[in-house]
Amino acid sequence: MKKIQDYYFEKAKKEHYPARSVYKLEEAQKKHTLLRRGDGVLDLGACPGSWSMYAAKVVGVEGLIVGVDLHSWEVAAPGKGARIHHLCGDIYAPETVAMLREIRSHYRVVLSDMAPKTTGSKWADQQHSLDLARRALELAADLLEPGGNFYCKVFEGEDFKGFVDQVRGRFAMVKIVKPKSSRSESPEVFVLGMGFKPAMAVLLKVES
Ligand SMILES: C[S@@+](CC[C@H](N)C(=O)[O-])C[C@H]1O[C@@H](n2cnc3c(N)ncnc32)[C@H](O)[C@@H]1O
Repeated sequence: MKKIQDYYFEKAKKEHYPARSVYKLEEAQKKHTLLRRGDGVLDLGACPGSWSMYAAKVVGVEGLIVGVDLHSWEVAAPGKGARIHHLCGDIYAPETVAMLREIRSHYRVVLSDMAPKTTGSKWADQQHSLDLARRALELAADLLEPGGNFYCKVFEGEDFKGFVDQVRGRFAMVKIVKPKSSRSESPEVFVLGMGFKPAMAVLLKVES
């Protein structure tokens, strides 16, 4: 397993990404094409910036990336890539949401690689991760364009199924993704939702 981790670490270094987590997005992109040219992308938990850099390359100059993190961060936008807005803020704070809206009223894709500071208590870490994932879903429901996509990290554990069911209620297609670049002993998995259904569409379906 260490060999695999070293492989991704070296690959990220060679490809000038600040973190090897980039391959957890790249793998999903290659298989499911969640990002397309011209997309507006919101990247939650963006520091140190690998996902934003990768997404900027995929969506190209016609697209836009808005990344937000508790920590301040900055990465160079790749040549021929989308502009990257670097925001520092807490995704629970109303002023952060106001900033996201000010830049763009709606996004085509919401990504979340947010992770809690681990405490050593498996149960507490899972709950915290689930809280972050629920908040990411709440923001996605508020900020996604109809038909948009959502890709979100969450630690598998108690209540995980309930979270996946919530995602199922809002997206036409949902998949659980465990990328090869994610340590097999890590509880992290990624929930992919494609084809966002805005609240009105969900209501109309229930009533008909
Ligand atoms: C695994 S890192 C993200 C790595 C990033 N995707 C990349 O490829 O470079 C997780 C990030 O989530 C951020 N985070 C955790 N809680 C947050 C919150 N409440 N608001 C904003 N960011 C948060 C952390 O500060 C941390 O930088």
